Amino acid sequence: MKTRILKILRNAEGYVSGQAICEQLGVSRTAVWKVINQLKEEGYEFDAVSNKGYRIVKYPDILTQSEIESQLYGGEIVKKVVYYDKTDSTNNRAKQAAEEGASSGTLFITECQTGGRGRRGRSWVSPQGNGIWMTLLLRPDIRPDAASMLTIVAAMAVAGAVSGVIGKNAGYAGAVSLEEQKKCLIKWPNDIVLGEKKICGILTEMSAEPEMINYVAVGIGINVNTENFDEAIRDTASSIFVQTGVRVKRSEIVALFAREFTRYYESFISTGDLSLVMDDYNKMLINAGRTVRIENGGNVYTAKAVGIDRCGRLEVKDENGAESKVIAGEVSVRGLYGYV
Ligand code: BTN
Repeated sequence: MKTRILKILRNAEGYVSGQAICEQLGVSRTAVWKVINQLKEEGYEFDAVSNKGYRIVKYPDILTQSEIESQLYGGEIVKKVVYYDKTDSTNNRAKQAAEEGASSGTLFITECQTGGRGRRGRSWVSPQGNGIWMTLLLRPDIRPDAASMLTIVAAMAVAGAVSGVIGKNAGYAGAVSLEEQKKCLIKWPNDIVLGEKKICGILTEMSAEPEMINYVAVGIGINVNTENFDEAIRDTASSIFVQTGVRVKRSEIVALFAREFTRYYESFISTGDLSLVMDDYNKMLINAGRTVRIENGGNVYTAKAVGIDRCGRLEVKDENGAESKVIAGEVSVRGLYGYV
């Protein structure tokens, strides 16, 4: 009921009377009043005027189930949000819930991870209040070898959502210009960058049989307000706030992510590959047209990045114009002088 009341108030043009909410939801005045009080405790601020009703004047920067679900329109792939004040890792929560039968489209999200995990066995620092630490559980009917493309789909959705939310906020005072910060881009295959620094990473984990996927857990970590980074990652990592000077509402990014993800995911599922979304991806690809340094085991060489193909492989051209494709997971791609 909290989600439904919040949705009514959020979508209203002006004031909504307690009576109107009661009638719409078929609940008592006391029940509505109780929910309004709960919302106040969570940090929502109301303007309450007799004979007119309630209007929300301030939204807290929280990631609760009702804060996020009240911003979904219903057609998204994200069907349900499970929120934790604190947990070890949302990927662990999603995997455990998946083993216990949780449905596809459940999004696990937390304010703080005590054991956040990154790729290649690294840890992922996930402090309280500073970011979006979430995992989307999916049970797609695709071949297991196509699952890695889901990470690309998720990267596009994050880049789109971050660009959308920062583009909406005025008053910039950050490290990047207005034009640059509107373009949240992707470093192949799936790091999300703002002003040449990584603000988001994705860790996709899967349980599958040889021919069939049981579930995929797409774990996404977005540094939103983080201001201090460990020395080891200081040169490459940043946050939306550091790059733009803007404090965005994290739930708006999550809601927009859900919408963007749905769009790209449906295209991906309809063909089983990236053919319908690769043009969009290539527009978001920060490496496109740049010379990159490719490390394949002991073999290190440079080439110009062109774009991805329908399987997510990066097409590159060497100095003689010879084209080849590199596969994510097998190679590491960096810029000539640094991260990108
Ligand atoms: C990377 O190394 O770039 C991937 C980082 C992925 C971090 C996210 S935060 C939410 C989810 N839970 C985890 O433990 N990891 C992922």
